Amino acid sequence: MLNFAAGLLIAYLIGSISFAVVVSKFVGLADPRTYGSKNPGATNVLRSGNKKAAVLTLLGDALKGTLAVALAFHFQDQLGYSRTDIAWIGLAAFIGHLYPVFFKFEGGKGVATALGVLLGLNWVLGLATAITWIVIAYFFRYSSLAALIAALFAVFYNALLFGINGQAAAITIMSALLIYRHKQNIANLIAGKESKIGQKKS
Ligand code: G3P
Repeated sequence: MLNFAAGLLIAYLIGSISFAVVVSKFVGLADPRTYGSKNPGATNVLRSGNKKAAVLTLLGDALKGTLAVALAFHFQDQLGYSRTDIAWIGLAAFIGHLYPVFFKFEGGKGVATALGVLLGLNWVLGLATAITWIVIAYFFRYSSLAALIAALFAVFYNALLFGINGQAAAITIMSALLIYRHKQNIANLIAGKESKIGQKKS
């Protein structure tokens, strides 16, 4: 029980590192929480026009999710983690990104981190979800729409691969939170006001 709580805490702290803010500061860009959608995420960093910073943000935010899960798998035997425990540890990293302790609990929408968590849990699950995002983004050019559809498909892919169990519950909560964090994007999409990928915003 203590090991599980420690795993959740460490994952939450790893997830709390906002790469959008850190990378932007490092390369001398404005804080992404001050422009565009004001979301500290790769899509919004791309609106600054700095593609490298956006890619670094994407990688950092995804890898922190993968790292949290990979660490849990690495110490699985010593710490007695079940597969369900590890999925919940991944969810804790995702929640860290959404509500980061280092940034006044004002975080991002969790797309890259969710993808990293899924990749860590199972590469087929992560890859299928990433491909879903890419296909929707390619055809519709909306990062948010791609994320919303990929989040729904992630639940479906996981059920196909692993069935309905504790891991399915963790992934369903992760997708539900991701959708909840996109409520403004959903309103914008419905109103036809959502900006397309790479479209700059003041
Ligand atoms: O990665 C988050 C994305 O789905 C939407 O971001 O900045 O357009 O709200 P944004």
